[in-house]
Amino acid sequence: MDIWHVRGGSRLFGSCRVQGSKNASLPVLAASMVFPARSLIRNVPRLLDVDAAVSILSHLGCGVERGEGELYIDSTGACATQIPRELMEEMRSSVIFMGAMLARCGEARLSLPGGCQLGKRPIDLHLSAMRAMGAEISEEGSDIFCRAEKLHGARIELRFPSVGATENIMLAACAAEGRTTISGAAREPEIVSLQQYLCSLGAHITGAGSDTVVICGASPREETDFTIPGDRIAAATLACACAATGGQIILSGAKSDHFLTVLHFLNEAGCDIIHFNDIVEIRSEGRLRAPGSIVTAPYPGFPTDAQPILTAALLRAEGSCRIIETIFENRYRHISELRRLGADIRVSGSEAVLRGVKELHGATLTAPDLRGGAAMVLAGLCAKGETRVIDAGHIARGYEDLDDTLCALGAEVWIEHK
Ligand code: UD1
Repeated sequence: MDIWHVRGGSRLFGSCRVQGSKNASLPVLAASMVFPARSLIRNVPRLLDVDAAVSILSHLGCGVERGEGELYIDSTGACATQIPRELMEEMRSSVIFMGAMLARCGEARLSLPGGCQLGKRPIDLHLSAMRAMGAEISEEGSDIFCRAEKLHGARIELRFPSVGATENIMLAACAAEGRTTISGAAREPEIVSLQQYLCSLGAHITGAGSDTVVICGASPREETDFTIPGDRIAAATLACACAATGGQIILSGAKSDHFLTVLHFLNEAGCDIIHFNDIVEIRSEGRLRAPGSIVTAPYPGFPTDAQPILTAALLRAEGSCRIIETIFENRYRHISELRRLGADIRVSGSEAVLRGVKELHGATLTAPDLRGGAAMVLAGLCAKGETRVIDAGHIARGYEDLDDTLCALGAEVWIEHK
């Protein structure tokens, strides 16, 4: 158990390099076992979710060595086709190993994944796509068993642009005979980086970043050297922190195009923002105005992962705004906790109405999930006195040394490990 102590009132100044992307790293790690190959993967963040993916790869027979910000994965010996329940439960992304194991070994045994409790999070789109490619799937309780003598290409139409389903299909389709077309695919930057990584290992994939991705098998290569892009949600978190506290920071290493919708709202709220390629400068007086309605949507819309974080940044804004969550049904669990700081937010179904208050005061909060936990740390930076965030390891699943990063920018944050 970690207790985050946050003493509010400091403005943030300085520059920092944004960590490598969690959500880009996890599918790339699963993809590293699709072909028997050796991958040097750079800019991998040190996170609990990455540790979980490394444990799964090791369990499946891959050799994994860690260097400073790098992973060297040798998947030539991958042989196992079963992931134990305790490893599956560590994170949601473990489900992407289904496509990877099917592609490599023609078989996958796993159980329903863990991860943030944001609502139902079904995997029906993943399963129906695997079936369309020729896999036989049986489900017993939360255990799933998939088998395919030979996968074949298919035309798959996703009724919703699921990130995980798009990734899983791309992995399985690398081993399928013929062409697989995903219509209604997710368009997130993480899909683009997955395509780049798989292509660097010889896969024939086009279209990532658009709503149609086409996979035509592969001419496998034996090694690759790949760099994970910067984390757009970690960048958005730091940008929101500076907007809320006031100050001036320069972020580098994450493409501004990948979190433009967040920057747009910060700008509307009164921040000065200059961005070019992977450099973003944010200047804020610390007194924000509430922007128009914030509606989460699949990329390139406003990211659901940034919703709790922008909400926290706006708690003291002048005026009121509506927040509408359209991706996950249970993504407001941070809100009842933020009220303990004096925030005025009311939730009704998928909609929240936030009225800015003059002052927040420190309190003890409990982090419900990864982004909700980060939102509480941010809110604490703007509250009078000390805020304590009790966190059962959620924040470390997705942020690399967030405490040190914030302290280097002038915040007063420390973690007590209990
Ligand atoms: C990924 C991200 C997560 C982000 C989310 C949405 C990773 C590791 N996680 O999660 O941080 O919040 O995208 O941008 O990259 N759905 C179904 N059936 C399915 C699959 C999904 O109904 O088979 C629904 C989900 O319940 C949810 C929506 O689709 O309502 C979005 O889920 P999805 O895009 O799959 O999110 P993840 O890949 O789990």
